[in-house]
Amino acid sequence: MRCLVTGAAGFIGSHLCERLLEDGHDVIGIDALVPYYDPQIKQANLTRLLQHQRFRFYRWDLRYQDLREVVRWADYIFHLAAMPGLIQAWQDFEGYWTCNVLATHRLLEAVQHHASSLRRFLYISTSSVYGRYASGDESLPLKPISPYGVTKLAGEQLCRAHAEVYGLPLVVLRYFSVYGPRQRPDMAYHRFIRALLLDEPITVYGDGLQIRGNTYISDCIEATIRTMDAPPGETYNIGGGETATVWEIIRKLEGISGRKARIRQEASRPGDQRYTFADTTKLRLHFDWRPRVGLDEGLRQQWAWQERQLTKANKSSATRESAYEHFGQN
Ligand SMILES: NC(=O)c1ccc[n+]([C@@H]2O[C@H](COP(=O)([O-])OP(=O)(O)OC[C@H]3O[C@@H](n4cnc5c(N)ncnc54)[C@H](O)[C@@H]3O)[C@@H](O)[C@H]2O)c1
Repeated sequence: MRCLVTGAAGFIGSHLCERLLEDGHDVIGIDALVPYYDPQIKQANLTRLLQHQRFRFYRWDLRYQDLREVVRWADYIFHLAAMPGLIQAWQDFEGYWTCNVLATHRLLEAVQHHASSLRRFLYISTSSVYGRYASGDESLPLKPISPYGVTKLAGEQLCRAHAEVYGLPLVVLRYFSVYGPRQRPDMAYHRFIRALLLDEPITVYGDGLQIRGNTYISDCIEATIRTMDAPPGETYNIGGGETATVWEIIRKLEGISGRKARIRQEASRPGDQRYTFADTTKLRLHFDWRPRVGLDEGLRQQWAWQERQLTKANKSSATRESAYEHFGQN
């Protein structure tokens, strides 16, 4: 099958593209490498993909690019491109609005006239559409409290309008806190691990008793693949089976690393969720999906990945320095 993945250079998008290729699909990835975090990280996420013969990559911005031709090529569209919830600040609203709503609108506009020949359009949404208490099944009230949640919900609703009016074969997936190798640098577990590796203080916002249902990246990808042919119109929560507070995560990471965390507490950030835990009964009943990777194992994997990244970065800066010294001596 021909699969178009937007946000292909991101944390989850790059894993999804790799899995689709492994499953024998042809994949086009689109990403603008928007610099809300270092584009070099996104470039690195693409490394393996760019070596694959059945993968093509376009550095395009969905907000401005004419997408009609590329969407005609696709059997499936996985729409992951978005500005994620990294800065809980209303002053960045333009970024959220343009990347999460306008970009979705442009993509839908391109799909509009051939929606019926598309097998599925998967809109990747988030637990943030539920708001402060995101614990339950897909019928929870939709009460987002952050610009990210509000604009991701607007994206969902735009897709639903296109499903109703133009027959878009829509499936909505709401992911809950995904972690693992390549996790975005702004996300909590990435920040905690980096601080421990560098012997820097860990910043904890609020009382640290916020609870998260965590989803390991391979479980998230497996669920996404299984829902590729879900009945149009369905919405699924995708989340792992374990919850933990911030303090519990830090204790686990101390255990993995054998290091003692230094903590710096700051006021909670407006828009932070208090409690998230996905009821995934529907996903289990329809697709027999269950999370496979427990929190301890998942954190160990992410720790090992970040440790390797740091070693690589240190080596390359040492090489740069020694090249510089060498140059200086001559
Ligand atoms: N990571 C999580 O825990 C999580 C949880 C819930 C939902 N999600 C959703 O999953 C998706 C992927 O998240 P992620 O964590 O991999 O984030 P990410 O930032 O790593 O990936 C998103 C990618 O989209 C690209 N992008 C943004 N705007 C674009 C535009 N206008 N044109 C082209 N490309 C654009 C970015 O450059 C980025 O590479 C997002 O839709 C996010 O809302 C993620």
